[in-house]
Order: sequence, then C-alpha cells, then structure tokens
Amino acid sequence: MKKIVVLAGDGIGPEIMDSALRVLGAAMGSDSSVFSFDHQPFGAAALAIGPTPLPPATLQACQEADAILLGAIGDPRWEKAPFTPEQGLLALRKALGLYANIRPIKVVDAVLHLSPIKETIVKGTDFVIVRELTGGIYFGDKAEELDSAYDINRYDRVEIQRIMRQAFRIARTRQKKVLSIDKANVLATSRLWRRIAEEVAEEFPDCQLTHQYVDSAAMKIMQQPTAFDVIVTENLFGDILSDEASVLPGSLGVLPSASHGINGVSLYEPIHGSAPDIAGQNSANPVSMILSVVMMLRESFQMESLAETIETACFDTMNAGILTKDLGGDATTDAFTAAVIARLGGMQDGENVI
Ligand code: NAD
Ligand code: IPM
Ligand code: MN
Repeated sequence: MKKIVVLAGDGIGPEIMDSALRVLGAAMGSDSSVFSFDHQPFGAAALAIGPTPLPPATLQACQEADAILLGAIGDPRWEKAPFTPEQGLLALRKALGLYANIRPIKVVDAVLHLSPIKETIVKGTDFVIVRELTGGIYFGDKAEELDSAYDINRYDRVEIQRIMRQAFRIARTRQKKVLSIDKANVLATSRLWRRIAEEVAEEFPDCQLTHQYVDSAAMKIMQQPTAFDVIVTENLFGDILSDEASVLPGSLGVLPSASHGINGVSLYEPIHGSAPDIAGQNSANPVSMILSVVMMLRESFQMESLAETIETACFDTMNAGILTKDLGGDATTDAFTAAVIARLGGMQDGENVI
C-alpha cells in the first residue's frame, strides 16, 4: 500500500483536490489496496485549529509518506498573522529538501484553441521549467522595519550544482537543450550560477547549454515558446516565469508541478494559488490538480498506463468543449470532474459521453 499524504489546504485547494481524488479513485476502479490517503491540516486550514500553518504531525506524516499531494494554501484573512500559510509552505519545502520544482508547460493540440496567443506561435509548445525551490532570496536573511527592509539573495555551489544536474538529466530525456536563465549582468549570485552551470555542463557533453537574461527570456516565452526545451532558473525567476508561461495553455488552472528532494519523498501541486476570488463557487479548474496526480503516478510510482489513461481523459474532456470558466466555458468543477470520469473507460471515436 502506497501512503499518500493529502494537504488540501485553502481556498479552491479542497475543491480541486476532491476532484482529482475522485478521478484517481474512478481510474483505480475496485482496486482499493494500492493507495491509502491521509488528510492532514496545512496552511490557513491548520492556523484555524492551531498555532502553526505546518503542524508537527502534518510534517511527520509528510516525512513518512510515499508521496504528497498539495492543493493550494493562502487566505487573505491570515495575510498579517505572525505565521502565514505561505511560511508553512516554505517551511515544508525546506524541511523535506524539495529543491527541484518541475513545471511542465505543454500545449497539446487538443487544447490549442484555448490559448489567447495565436495558434501559429503556440502550436508545439512543450518545455519544462526547472525551478530551484529551497534557496535564493526566498530563504536568505531578511529584516523588516518601519522604513526599511531587505532580503538577501544567496546561492551556494552545491545548491546550483544539484539543480543544474537535475535540469540536464531531464534534458537527456528530451531535446538535450538546457537554457539557464539569470541576471548575470547585474547580480553576483547570477554570475556564480552561470559559472557553475558551465562546469556542470561538462558532465553532460551530449547536451547543449545556453544562457539568457531573465528580462529578455520573459519576452521570448511569449514571442517564441516553441524555442524552449528545458529552462533552469533560480527560485524567484522560476516563480514568475512559470505564472507567465501559464498564458500559453490559456489558464493557470491547467498547470501541475512536481517537487523532488535529495532522495526522499516528492510533492505534487498545481503552480497556482488558492484563488480566493473564486473559492467556494464550484468553478475552479481542477485540471492542474488532476495533472499533478498524473505526475505523481509517473514520477513516484512508475504507473505509466494509469497516468496516461487519466491524462487522456482530461484532455479529451477539454477538447470536447467541456471547460471551466477560466477557459471560457460554463462547466462547474463537479461537472468537469464527472465528464473526465465518464471518459476514463476508454471512449471510442464518435461515442457520446455527456
Ligand atoms: P492565484 O494563483 O491563487 O490566482 C491567480 C488568478 O488565477 C486568480 O484570478 C484565480 O482565480 C485564477 N486561478 C488560479 N487557479 C485557478 C484554477 N484552478 N481555476 C480557475 N482559476 C484559477 O494567485 P493569487 O490570487 O495571487 O494568490 C492567492 C493566494 O494563494 C495567496 O495567498 C498566495 O500567497 C497563495 N499562493 C499559493 C500557492 C501555493 O499554494 N503553491 C501558489 C501561489 C499563490
Ligand atoms: C508558488 C507560490 C509560492 C512561491 C508562495 C505561495 C510562497 O507562488 O508555489 O509558486 O512563491 O513559491
Ligand atoms: Mn507562484
């Protein structure tokens, strides 16, 4: 039995988690002996019942899990609390050593028409953002006073080496092209980043390494998204560029991610947040969470055929025009989920499900 810890979190987190677990349950059919699900409080949901967004029991369950599914955290009501939900998320990533956040940006033909960008530009978009997740400005020394504040951006050799190696390993399974994005014309950390990228590239002579400044890369992601294969970048740039890249497939609500640690457990979560503006309305797009489950099946459990069945059902549903509001449709979260489940059996061409 594989132990999955479920952190549904806040806002739309519980809604999309419920959808994804229903899809997974339906895909497993009567076989209930493969996974166990352990729901734990996290984020504002944990602050509502205790002093911390990451309770010790939640952390311990995560440390003992075979995989972790996270919905989203964040709640405007806790923005000014001494401990915020966001601090809980950062503490969890750090405690589990989840340094490699993999954010695939893929626009499959079936959903090409949903992109606000011209089809001629976006067709064939298929790249991966490898975001460093436990270092940089997020975790450096910081101070906040009434009239001044600072955040230190610091990277050490080992932190850069391991994320670079991860990027090259992924590139080897793809087109073997790594683009390292930095701001080496201004930042010392970026110059170190670039130097170590060059060193690590020598371990992967079959792959090609190029560099680009983050400002011009941000432009090129919209202008020529098909030019990218594997992007590797520091924590803050990866956060920003991946939300930008969500415009390509048409919504933040369709992008999943995987976070891997040194040897331990991996965590799977959408790239978006708790979307308080639409929480509780049964209108969130659950695709990001369903595809996060798909990533978990592939990357933690090597269950390729189950992963493919769910992924195909999800894209077929979108292709059939069943879409949530963020993609211009009127399907509720529940209706979309039901439509995916209805397609799980392997639909024949022309068969009319829903
Ligand atoms: P957000 O990602 O929650 O939402 C941005 C916009 O995208 C909103 O208009 C929202 O409605 C929409 N959106 C996001 N996911 C969607 C989905 N699945 N379906 C349909 N629409 C979707 O960003 P925000 O509003 O800036 O942040 C809200 C809260 O989430 C904040 O507290 C923030 O700190 C937190 N946050 C958490 C995570 C995480 O848990 N990993 C990630 C980002 C932001
Ligand atoms: C993300 C989020 C988080 C981040 C926040 C909520 C701390 O934006 O997962 O992308 O900045 O990493
Ligand atoms: Mn983000």
